[in-house]
Amino acid sequence: MPDNPFRGRDVISILDFTREDLEELFSHADRSKELIRRRSLEGRIVALAFFEPSTRTRMSFEAAAKRLGAATISISGEEAISVAKGENLADTIAMLDSYADAIVIRHKYEGAALYASEIAEAPVINGGDGRQHHPTQAMLDLYTVRKLFGRIDGLVYGVLGDLRYGRAASSFILGLTLFKPRHVYLISPPQLRARSEVIEVLESRGFEYNEVESLTEVLPELDVLYVTRIQKERIPDPREYEALKGSYRVTIDLLKSKAREGLKILHPLPRVDEIDFSVDASPYQAYYLQARLGVDVRIALLHLVLAG
Ligand code: NCD
Repeated sequence: MPDNPFRGRDVISILDFTREDLEELFSHADRSKELIRRRSLEGRIVALAFFEPSTRTRMSFEAAAKRLGAATISISGEEAISVAKGENLADTIAMLDSYADAIVIRHKYEGAALYASEIAEAPVINGGDGRQHHPTQAMLDLYTVRKLFGRIDGLVYGVLGDLRYGRAASSFILGLTLFKPRHVYLISPPQLRARSEVIEVLESRGFEYNEVESLTEVLPELDVLYVTRIQKERIPDPREYEALKGSYRVTIDLLKSKAREGLKILHPLPRVDEIDFSVDASPYQAYYLQARLGVDVRIALLHLVLAG
């Protein structure tokens, strides 16, 4: 490989990367079995610093690191570590930097991963910072679309749910701007519309999109429906959450009456009630594949950042 655009790099936002970078990543993810055989991270240590809850992101990074032969050290939750004694993030990161070869961080504060990357010499990978960015989720989401359709370009996308507080949805929308979708519908209750900094990127890139409130009216056009939960923990006023709760729900009856046959539904998970369980056994469902492919993409990413 001539230039590896990932080598030694921090991964903070999906917009730090080009389409070509992502294509390089995806072709490595296609070869994850071969990367596992090579155990290219033997002797390395990956730190997993998760200050916020996580199931898939944390475990798939851990699985990816271990499959490549690396060891992992980890923090989970602030209660268990010295943050509870008043230690600041800068000191925690400086310490991890001296223990590990790469740091994956998830934090409730926006900008935490960027801040960590300014302190650490080791590459820092953002596993989610507040409502802002979740670049590796966007990478695996786009990879899933590429697996399902053989391409990311030319498709019609709907992104449904909490576009205001949800970092997975925002990062997916930003990631789509690196490609050429036919159209993107941003579907949400008015209170949960995409934030201005996301809309500004779409506008500045001359991107084809619409903001709509109803899934039903656009559903027949969609190739991909990306669903997200309402981010209860990030909504400042609990009454606002109560008012929004259950305001959208994807059911098998709705899909059967309105969706294209080939529609695929993605969801970063965890799901609350926005996709009815009746959808799980249908051919529309692609979220379990998506979760599985997260390991392949993180294998490719860790390999490229640390060894490629
Ligand atoms: C997402 C997250 O943490 O932002 N989960 C994930 O990483 N798969 C989505 C969410 O919590 O709703």
